[in-house]
Parts: sequence; structure tokens; C-alpha cells
Amino acid sequence: MRKILVTGGLGFIGSHTVVELQNEGFEVVIIDDLSNTSIKVLDSITEITGKKPDFHQIDLRIKNDVKTFFDNNKIDGVIHFAAFKAVGESMHKPLDYYENNLSVLVYLLQEMRNRKLNNFIFSSSCTVYGQVDELPITEKAPVKTAESVYGNTKQIGEEILKDASKAHNINSIALRYFNPIGAHESVKIGELPLGVPQNLIPFITQTAAGIRAELSVFGDDYDTNDGTAIRDYIHVVDLAKAHIAALNRLLNKKNKESFEYFNVGTGKGSSVLEIINAFERVNNLKLNYKIVGRREGDITAAFADTTIANKELNWKTEKSLDDALESAWRWQLEQD
Ligand code: UD1
Repeated sequence: MRKILVTGGLGFIGSHTVVELQNEGFEVVIIDDLSNTSIKVLDSITEITGKKPDFHQIDLRIKNDVKTFFDNNKIDGVIHFAAFKAVGESMHKPLDYYENNLSVLVYLLQEMRNRKLNNFIFSSSCTVYGQVDELPITEKAPVKTAESVYGNTKQIGEEILKDASKAHNINSIALRYFNPIGAHESVKIGELPLGVPQNLIPFITQTAAGIRAELSVFGDDYDTNDGTAIRDYIHVVDLAKAHIAALNRLLNKKNKESFEYFNVGTGKGSSVLEIINAFERVNNLKLNYKIVGRREGDITAAFADTTIANKELNWKTEKSLDDALESAWRWQLEQD
């Protein structure tokens, strides 16, 4: 059985990916420092899959602990989710973000190089494109100067991975995520935002649940059909499955370059108002919202051209926006 290390495996995307890995018969070992999730997620994964993944609470910034882990575990591939992800916070804590998102990446790759290990999947983001001139966004769109420290960590992360992959024969794939939403259909795992959510869907579900008084729609004067900004919202389970597809590509040596990158989205854009309307319709409720000014740093529109990912990864989305919005709401109702 192939053994896969999943860093950040108890986080939102990580936990859904661990479930899909176990469903596909991979042996999973998780490293998570529990800084932005709960150990309970481990039990939830076990309930869903009937199998408890091996778990290590390790702070990957401690280089020696990374080495010790690799000394004691024989690994066939790494899916690296562990990172900080709050755009606003990254501007106030740049060094923490560079350390956690980039030093750790280097440590992992050094251990892989030292042991001649292969197969590395990296969590990247559509944020590397910024506001593009042409939609949908293909992988050929240029990477623009990052707008945030967080975005910069993803850009530099890809550069590090590209150089290391070439020099040390570590085949790797960066997946550029669009906007992951929703929850596993069992609603035993989902998104667990700490404090006030910054992302749209958790803010919507918390507003519907009465935890937040009102949703603010950031801007209705964008150059879009209804004036609100457009994003490509992908069901987290579909996103999780893209990781299995990418991993299989590497394990089966189907990759064409030592470092590759793919867009992982649905190919369809939705405006904020479309999301609100769909959420109300699917879940049969009314949402309290008001239009306010734009949020600093937001772009008008981003949605993926997934042609290359569909073909090369032999992967496509299977779930709908309605599925995602329905599961997101059921997940919210499960929270105390
Ligand atoms: C943001 C980050 C992106 C990161 C992703 C991680 C920015 C500019 N981008 O994406 O780099 O990879 O989170 O999940 O921060 N909105 C509202 N009201 C709200 C919250 C959001 O109207 O209370 C709108 C936003 O203006 C945006 C859309 O909803 O148009 C989606 O926002 P969000 O969920 O925060 O994702 P992104 O900004 O696309």
C-alpha cells in the first residue's frame, strides 16, 4: 500500500483529501500542529472512512522534527497543505507567513532530496494570477506581482518547488485552487473558521444561523452583470479528488515536466448576489444582507479554464454549486 504524508491533514481541504485518499486505498499519515483546527477532525475522518489515519502533532517549523519524522516513516508521496491562509493577516505578519509557508516547504523538500523521495503536491492558489485581462483564466495567464504576502508565499512557493524539482528529481504538481466551499456529504467534516469568517460562504452560513447579524456584500459597482464580484466556487470534495488525480499522475509517471501546475476550479463564475440567491433557494431561507463598499484588494472576476486540468489529470468536477451550498448549510447546523 502506498503511504502518503498529508501535512495540514486536519484542515478544511486536507481533511477532505485524507478521506478521499483512504477511500482510494492509500495509507495516510497526517502531520498537523492543530493551530487552526481541532483534533476532533481525526475522529470524524475515522467515522467516515472506518479507518484511523496515523497522526503526528508536529510543528514543521522545527526542522529537526521534520527530519525525525522522515527518519521514522517511509513515504511514497507528500501532499502539503499546512500553511497560513488569511490574506489580511498576512500583511501584518509577513515574517510569520514567510516562515510558515516557505521555510517549511524548503525543509520538506530537503528531507525528500536527502532520501531521494519523489511525488509532491503543493497547495497553490488562483491568487497567483491577480486580475487577469482575459477570462476564463488558463494556466498560460501570466503570474502577476502578488497583492498580498499570502499570495506572494504561493508564488514563491511555486518557484521553490520548480527549482527543487528540476535539480533534485522530485516530481511535483502545484494545484491552483479557485474558491473551495461546501462540506463532506456526511457533514462530519467541513470548514471551521476561527473567529469572524473572512470568506463568503462561512459568513453566509453564520449569518443564516444568527451568529452574525448581517452579511456585507462588498461592492455592487463592479463591471459584471449585477455589479457584484465573480468567483469560481468549487465543492471541496471535487477539489480533494483533484489531489488524488494529481498524485496518481505522479505515481504512474504520467507527468510531462518535473514541475507542473493546474487550475482547479469548475470553469463557471458566480457573482456574490448569485451565490446569495442560490443559497436562499437551495436551503429555503432568507439571508439578511446589505451592500457596502468594495473590500480592499478584491478583484472583479476570476474563474478557471479547466481544459488542461480535465485532460491532463483525467479529472472533472462532479458536484454542483447547489450541492456545495446545501452541504455548507447542513455543516453549519451541526456546529454548536
Ligand atoms: C480569498 C483570497 C484568496 C485566498 C482565498 C482563500 C483575497 C483578495 N483573496 O479569496 O487569495 O486564496 O480567499 O480562501 O482576499 N465577500 C463579500 N462579503 C463577505 C466576504 C466575501 O461580499 O463577507 C465577497 C468578496 O468580496 C469576493 C467574494 O465574496 O468577491 C469571495 O470572497 P472570499 O470568500 O473572501 O474569497 P476571495 O476573496 O475570492
